[in-house]
Amino acid sequence: MRMIVVTAAPAPIPFIDLKTQRLRIAGKVEVALKKVLEHGAFVMGPEILELEKQLAQWGGVKHALACASGTDALVLALMARGIGPGHAVFVPAFTFVATAEAAVLVGATPVFVDILPDVLTMDPASLERAIAGCPKDLTPKAVIPVDLFGQPADYTALGAIAARHGLTMIADAAQSFGASLNGKAVGALAEMTTTSFFPAKPLGCYGDGGAVLTDDDELIEVLRSIRNHGQGRDRYEHARIGFNGRLDTMQAAVLLEKLAIFADEIEARDRVAQRYNQLLSEVVDTPVVIKGGTSVWAQYTVTTANRDAVIKALGALGVPTGVYYPTPLHLQGPYAHYPRDPAGMAVTEDKMGHVFSLPMHPYLDEATQDRIVAAVRQVVESQA
Ligand SMILES: Cc1ncc(COP(=O)(O)O)c(C=O)c1O
Repeated sequence: MRMIVVTAAPAPIPFIDLKTQRLRIAGKVEVALKKVLEHGAFVMGPEILELEKQLAQWGGVKHALACASGTDALVLALMARGIGPGHAVFVPAFTFVATAEAAVLVGATPVFVDILPDVLTMDPASLERAIAGCPKDLTPKAVIPVDLFGQPADYTALGAIAARHGLTMIADAAQSFGASLNGKAVGALAEMTTTSFFPAKPLGCYGDGGAVLTDDDELIEVLRSIRNHGQGRDRYEHARIGFNGRLDTMQAAVLLEKLAIFADEIEARDRVAQRYNQLLSEVVDTPVVIKGGTSVWAQYTVTTANRDAVIKALGALGVPTGVYYPTPLHLQGPYAHYPRDPAGMAVTEDKMGHVFSLPMHPYLDEATQDRIVAAVRQVVESQA
């Protein structure tokens, strides 16, 4: 009799595993959602206020405003400071589109700034050049550093430049909520901080969501008003132009359950990142975190010379990868005509061809990490 030996193919590796987290909190989320169904306050229900309280605590500030997305959060922050036509808003070219898009949506002009080659966040020297070279028909008004891949930008250096030039600083912390710099939480590093609860973010909900954090008692009132159609003292009095930027109560209920395990998940992400660092630093350039900073590892992003061949070979070995961001914003059709640092975007244009991200989530066990590490080593070494 012939024996047929079937060897099980290794389980596919997810790039992000939201399912394990969902199963961990499923019972609690179901109870929380049922509660919302029963009280019926689907818009601005009690869960929104509780979420805002907890987000402010996490961010080390007095106030948080829950809103419909990270993009809305940026628009709300810009509108709250009256930023619009004729104003320049300095943004990194190497970011998700929403950072620059928000400036355009309020009628302002994004001005692109290059990034630092090690930490990949906004380069203070490039910001200085972009301000000095800003077209004369624009008034420099705001800067939006982006906490790329989960770690804070250099708010100390960028904040000093913003203060010198009278710029409002809005931290785009869509990827970094939960991280810190010099002992201060992301949330307390800029006049306003925005974040996103898109499902794949370190703190994600089950749909779209976002928040703005601030310590400023007057700004939070303006932000609350803009989020609700510019509402004044009562429902049909409108003090300013606003829009409907509210978060659903259901999403707040989900986020409260996710916040309960967030600290534990951040630690788990960091353990994965430290292990990757240790096992991969000989074969690729592993990520550099800013001095005094922590990362929540929204992505674990490495740099290598022959990126495209490496990710193709990794795919063939069953290791998924992501490329954030293959075409920076200053090279994208709708954004290509906007001003930029007159010295150019050399670092951004170099990084766009060399970075890629490996699977990263709090539930990535050591055996799977080892499979990923072995595949990276095999691929990079075979291509050397
Ligand atoms: C850096 C950055 N800014 C803004 C956003 C926009 O957030 P949202 O998708 O919630 O609108 C995202 C993510 O999607 C992001 O990564």
